Order: sequence, then C-alpha cells, then structure tokens
Amino acid sequence: MASLTVRQLDDKLKRLLRLRAARNGRSVEEEIRIILRGAAEETGLEALDMIEPPNQGSAKQTTRPEPRSDAKRVLLIIGGGIAAYKSLDLIRRFKERGVAVRAIMTKAAREFITPLSVGALVGESAFTDLFDPESEFDVGHIRLARECDLVVVAPATADLMAKMANGHADDLASAVLLATDKKILLAPAMNPRMWENHATKRNLAQLIADGVTTVGPNAGEMAERNEAGTGRMAEPLEIIAAAEALLANANGALAGQRVLITSGPTHEPIDPVRYIANRSSGKQGHAIAAAAAAAGADVTLISGPVNVPDPKGVTIIKVESARDMLDAVESALPADIAIFAAAVADWRVANAGEQKIKKTGAGAPQMSLVENPDILSTIAHLKSKRPKLVIGFAAETEKVVENAKAKLARKGCDWILANDVSPASGVMGGDINTIHLVSKDGVEDWPPQSKDEVASMLIKRITATIGE
Ligand code: C5P
Repeated sequence: MASLTVRQLDDKLKRLLRLRAARNGRSVEEEIRIILRGAAEETGLEALDMIEPPNQGSAKQTTRPEPRSDAKRVLLIIGGGIAAYKSLDLIRRFKERGVAVRAIMTKAAREFITPLSVGALVGESAFTDLFDPESEFDVGHIRLARECDLVVVAPATADLMAKMANGHADDLASAVLLATDKKILLAPAMNPRMWENHATKRNLAQLIADGVTTVGPNAGEMAERNEAGTGRMAEPLEIIAAAEALLANANGALAGQRVLITSGPTHEPIDPVRYIANRSSGKQGHAIAAAAAAAGADVTLISGPVNVPDPKGVTIIKVESARDMLDAVESALPADIAIFAAAVADWRVANAGEQKIKKTGAGAPQMSLVENPDILSTIAHLKSKRPKLVIGFAAETEKVVENAKAKLARKGCDWILANDVSPASGVMGGDINTIHLVSKDGVEDWPPQSKDEVASMLIKRITATIGE
C-alpha cells in the first residue's frame, strides 16, 4: 500500500465505512458498532463497552458504576488531534471509576471522532456550539464551566493552548476555559516541532503561571510517518492518575480557602546592574505553597527572584522589589490566609541610578537608604480585607523567641514562625529548619525538620485552627 498521511487514511476509512454502511442498509454508527462487536468477540477486549448508545440498558451498562450524587464531575474538553480517539477510552476509564463526565468537542475534534460516539459514552449529548440556542438555554457555557470539579483538556492542541494563554473565547471550548473557576488539567498532544516551538513554550509557561496543571506529552512515534519526539498525548491511565490527584485535592483540608504566600528575597536596585538583597532561597515559601495547593487551597504565590522551581497548581506572580511585592499582595486580596515567608529587604536606595554608576576614582558613591514598606504589618493592620489568619516569619540570629514575641505584637499578625538563622544553624539556603511557633496562646517548639516537613506541619496546624 502506498504511504498515506493520517488525514488521508482517516478520509479513506470514513469513505469505506460509509460505503459498507450504505451497502448493508445501516447507519455508519450502526456499522461501526457491528464491526467493533465482531472485533470484541474475536479478541475478548471490551470494544462493545465503548459503543453502546446511551440508555439502552445493556448488561454492560447496568454493571458500569452509576455516578453517585457525591460523584466527582469532570468536564472533558476534546481538542482536534489524532489523539482524540484516546479520549473515548478516557471517558470510559473515568466512568469505570464512578466519575461523572460531560464533554465538549471543538470543531476540529469533530473531524476526528463524532459527537455520537462521545455522547454514547458520556450518556448525554456532547456540547459543541457556543451559539446553540438549545444547549445555551438548557445548560449554558457558564454553567458548564462551573458545574464540575475539574476541567480536563485532552487532547490539548497547540491552538487550544494558544487560545487559553491569550484568553480567547470565540468557541464553546475556549469560552468555558475562560469562564471556569475550577482547576484545569491539560494533556497536550501535537507534533514534536509544534511542541518545541517558542510560541508553544511561551503559551505553556503562561498557562502554568496561571495555575494550569499538565500531564505529558510523552516521547515516542507520532501518527505521521517518520516523525518521532515529544508530543504524544499521555495515555488515558496517566491522565486519570493526574486527574484523580487534582480531584482528591478538591476535597482537601484547605479546599475553597484562598491562601496568599510571599517567598524569596526582594531585590532593591542601586542602579540597573546592582541591587541590595537579603539571602533567601525561597525554598521554605515555595514548599508552603506546594503543601497548601496539595491540601486543595487556591494558592497565590508572590515570589521575588529565586532559583527554585515553580510549585505546581499555584498561581505565581514574580516580582523584584518590596514595593512591587506589596502591590502584588494588595492586588491578590481578598485571601483567607496570608503567609509572609519572603525575606523582604528592609531598605532601598533613595535615588537609585538610572544608569550604571561609574567608578570615578573619587571614592565610593554616597548612598542614602529609605525604609521599605512592611508588607506583613500593612496587611495585618488592614481594617477591611484582613485575611482571617496572618502569619509571619522571623529570622533571628539571637534571642529567637524573645524577639519573635515582640515582633508578633509590633506587626499585628496572628502567628510568627521564628527560626534561628545564625550562621551556625545552617538554615540559610539549607534544607533543615527549626521553628518556634509564637502566638498569643504561647510558644510551640517544633523539632528540627526539612523545609517540606515544616510546610506540611504548618498546613496541618492551619487546618486545625480554621476548623476550630
Ligand atoms: O522585621 P522582619 O524582617 O524580621 O520580619 C519578618 C517578617 O516580616 C517576615 O514574615 C517577612 O516576610 C515580613 N516582612 C514584610 N515586609 C518587610 C519586612 C518583613 O512582609 N518589609
């Protein structure tokens, strides 16, 4: 057989199917069902399960777990790529686990699989049109966007990702993605060159910064002849695992809580190439953000310049100076809980040079410093919009608890997590932290532990407090 592109093969198969269906006096769907039933009998695989139309009460359907009233609900958005066929299996796998699925298909997706097969598996019609009066009056794109616990986009094409990253809303899928307040899981699938393209990389970085989670793509052979590389959609079971992790978080101890966290140092410019900063790796603040997200919180992490990776599933706002950080914190309010782990520079240069300051031979330049705003104290003293729990850190080199108690009163926060950062402690940039939690109720001494352990202990402590 002469080599065919996927599109040609697809067209040829469709023509053959139509011909065979017409010859046998059946609809194409009926014909597919009969072919798959034959294949199922021959192979013993569960092909039948994939094609039973809804509400026909077959033996297979009655054994499939019906979604319970407390069942998790996934909104599956199917993009237009050859991997769309895997989304049929994905639906089946979700339903096997008792997860209720609703599906939206883009126009391009309908070139690969039909709304009928998706509808048959889902148990209701697939949604396809933004301007379809029937579905707009019945469910509407806003309800579609909200009445679920998780949005899964599989396959997420380069085009769909570009639309998401730029906030387009010119079809049902993109409008729902823009309107949703739920977590979004993307399973990208595209040609490796498209995946590696700078535009896709930029869009991906933007989407991750926006709090979107991704699974895959994997490396391997592509549908196109002689094409291999990274771009294959993750397998349905991998997507299920990623979705289950996010769904579990949806019921986590901090689900529904908005948590604001600052992390890392701030850089205060002396001139365009020099700055003043505190030593801070951002490890502790980022670990707290990751732990809060894992507990289901809606996390906004405002970070100064750091070299640690961005935690997954959190909204990250990157800033440089203390004043930028304060602006970002104020814009991110309201929040239920605020944790200030950043090592904010206390002072900045009063008149930072607009050009690089030159060595003139006339001695060192004179620099005057002005005090930076105290972000923790500003937020803790807010009359309106004060988060119900405001937590600060105190890095001390001596009289750790005594200084922390004074700081608690001065800053007006609810807790201070004090730690000894004297050079002998090795805390700075290291992985171990010894915390003393100082509150109006007294002092708790935590054991020396890793920064990840401190983060999860803090999240447990917060959970217990807001539950009281
Ligand atoms: O005063 P000190 O820097 O020791 O206080 C530490 C606590 O205050 C930390 O939680 C830190 O994030 C916060 N802080 C702040 N803004 C500043 C200085 C400190 O939010 N300008």
